[in-house]
Amino acid sequence: MTENFQFTLSATDGMARRGQIDTPRGEIRTPAFMPVGTAGTVKAMYPEQVRETGADIVLGNTYHLMLRPGAERVARLGGLHEFMDWQRPILTDSGGFQVMSLAKLRKLDENGVTFKSHIDGSSHSLTPERSIEIQKLLDSDIIMQLDECVSLPAEHNELERAMELSIRWAERSKKAFDNAKGRALFGIVQGGDNAVLRARSASGLTDIGFDGYAVGGLAVGEPQEVMFRVLDETTPQLPSDKPRYLMGVGKPDDLLGAVGRGIDMFDCVHPTRAGRHGHAYTRFGVVNLKNARHKDDHRPLDEASPNPTARRFSRAYLHHLVRCEEMLGAMILSQINLSYYQELMAGMRNAIENATFVQYCAAVREGWTKGDL
Ligand code: GUN
Repeated sequence: MTENFQFTLSATDGMARRGQIDTPRGEIRTPAFMPVGTAGTVKAMYPEQVRETGADIVLGNTYHLMLRPGAERVARLGGLHEFMDWQRPILTDSGGFQVMSLAKLRKLDENGVTFKSHIDGSSHSLTPERSIEIQKLLDSDIIMQLDECVSLPAEHNELERAMELSIRWAERSKKAFDNAKGRALFGIVQGGDNAVLRARSASGLTDIGFDGYAVGGLAVGEPQEVMFRVLDETTPQLPSDKPRYLMGVGKPDDLLGAVGRGIDMFDCVHPTRAGRHGHAYTRFGVVNLKNARHKDDHRPLDEASPNPTARRFSRAYLHHLVRCEEMLGAMILSQINLSYYQELMAGMRNAIENATFVQYCAAVREGWTKGDL
């Protein structure tokens, strides 16, 4: 444990990095996957179950929590860790991205963004300063700057404008953050699919100086090869002694590819959302439990899985739960998917330590081709 936030690299294999972030609320082993706990809950999971899957940190959302139950209320109730009873680190996103994807009647200008709540239509605004204030009220351990994420494809001018605005907001965020003790502040690289804009964004943020650097504006409509190309161009521009976080990514294959390109942290709703939709991630690929072919299948998802839940219930039972939209189906499949994601992260960490990352990725991908039996 440490009073402060500290990142230590312990091994590298190619561009892949093995490290650890020490925070006052505990360590984060990297490469790390952060389950998304948007509204103060990783959906359908008890906090101890989230921990048992191997998660060191979860993500919370400024946008959702400011609207409901309100940041000041969470602060009065002792902060987000106390509120949700997750005592380990929490990273909070800054809100801008969710405003753009969820809120109605958005208006963005130099000062920030005003919008109407997707819940009740009430008016709100977020500035870089207010976003930091909210994240402090939530008692977040890793705070993200407010940024503007543009979906792809996009015009060069639009990407440039949003990237430059995000740098000015980064500067204001850093001032408002004011070196809050025991917390970290991350800047967010924008610039879309353009290498020159990405480089300018990375250098602008590095000049300001952050505890970590996120790559934003990806997984917003572009093919995987474009995302990988942008990472190839961007991670070398970032300081090697700070963690790098790829926001909103991804599927297991994206995680392998991004770690191989120097990314240390991820978050994504995909494993829990896919679970709620009846999809299970296994060493042999994705199993769609809605499919009628599972009706009479007494076999578990993976009888040799290290996760007891994946060995426990028959495919027929999971199919039944999913078909009946039973809550337990969502609970079991969220657990199975998050466990699989954490297994993958642990496997990658171990492979980097042993300098076998490339072989590990090949073996994992080979497993997926074995298909769903
Ligand atoms: N989540 C996924 N992508 C982004 C992004 O570009 N910015 C922010 N703030 N959050 C994200």
